[in-house]
Amino acid sequence: MLIEDYLSRQRQKEGIRRLFSETTLLAKDFILPIFVKQGGEKVAIASLPGVYQIPLSGLDDEVQEAVDCGVFAVLLFGVSDHKTSDARAAFDDEGLIQKAITQIKKKFPHLLVMADCCLCEYTDHGHCFIHTQGKSDSSLTREVLGNIAISYAKAGVDVVAPSGMVDGMVSFLRQALNANGYTSTLIFSYAVKYASYFYGPFREAAGSGQFSGHRLYHQLGVSQKQEGLLEAEMDVKEGADALIIKPAGFYLDMVSLIKQRTLLPLIGYHVSGEYAMVKLSAQAHILQEKEAFFEIYTCMKRAGVTGIISYAAKDMCKWLNHF
Ligand code: PBG
Repeated sequence: MLIEDYLSRQRQKEGIRRLFSETTLLAKDFILPIFVKQGGEKVAIASLPGVYQIPLSGLDDEVQEAVDCGVFAVLLFGVSDHKTSDARAAFDDEGLIQKAITQIKKKFPHLLVMADCCLCEYTDHGHCFIHTQGKSDSSLTREVLGNIAISYAKAGVDVVAPSGMVDGMVSFLRQALNANGYTSTLIFSYAVKYASYFYGPFREAAGSGQFSGHRLYHQLGVSQKQEGLLEAEMDVKEGADALIIKPAGFYLDMVSLIKQRTLLPLIGYHVSGEYAMVKLSAQAHILQEKEAFFEIYTCMKRAGVTGIISYAAKDMCKWLNHF
């Protein structure tokens, strides 16, 4: 049997390539992060080209633009100028993100609204934990996270996304939400979050840049594979509705491994540093931006993610919807 042309025959015709295509990106795969601030002007984030801090007064326009591109899910981060050691601004019912959720849900009731549930944007020391006598206090941190989740749920959020890698946070939040009647609020847990240098631009974006030390006390070390699987397994047991893997672009081995072991949907976070690499390379004419993003996100989906958190979500949806 003549087999030399077997694979190339399958690739000759565009129709066959399309028919046999195993992984297809869709606009619905993309989740757009939005950085919300209280007042003032819309501010460009220098290290994240195309991304802005949006004041509450500009939020409707920003979300409208995203919806017009075909975005149907957003992930909110607060850029707070009210930072204290107890992060109390994070769970204020009249707080920044609570207002943003109410505002968005009123104007765009069908948009899926997710909110980051973490302390680092609200603590004066910039860490994701409350400190007691200079040491991180997990139990107090869980309490505060519970208060944040409840106040977001009260404001009408669809999904809370705890990102602090606090042990037991998922089961604690599930119980806190249920006890307050928010049984339909989902929890997308940052289950597998590595202590990555690729979060650099985010810290400028979220105004949480000034912390000292590192996050290796609670985030995964880059060398860890088994431990990453253990984190995923624990959050599944604790009742997470989906698992977030972060960063995802460089951590496709973890996406693929976890996909084989859990039936929960996986969300990949293409983080700020990974996004910035593509944008800056494209600006320097080293890469073609659209093609690079399509390649990266197809690889993420091929590895097993169901959703992709991306700063390029608006453009991706526009490109995928052909306008
Ligand atoms: C913590 C949080 C971080 C990111 C999302 N949530 C920073 C951190 O853990 O230090 C980073 C996301 C990115 O780099 O795009 N609230």
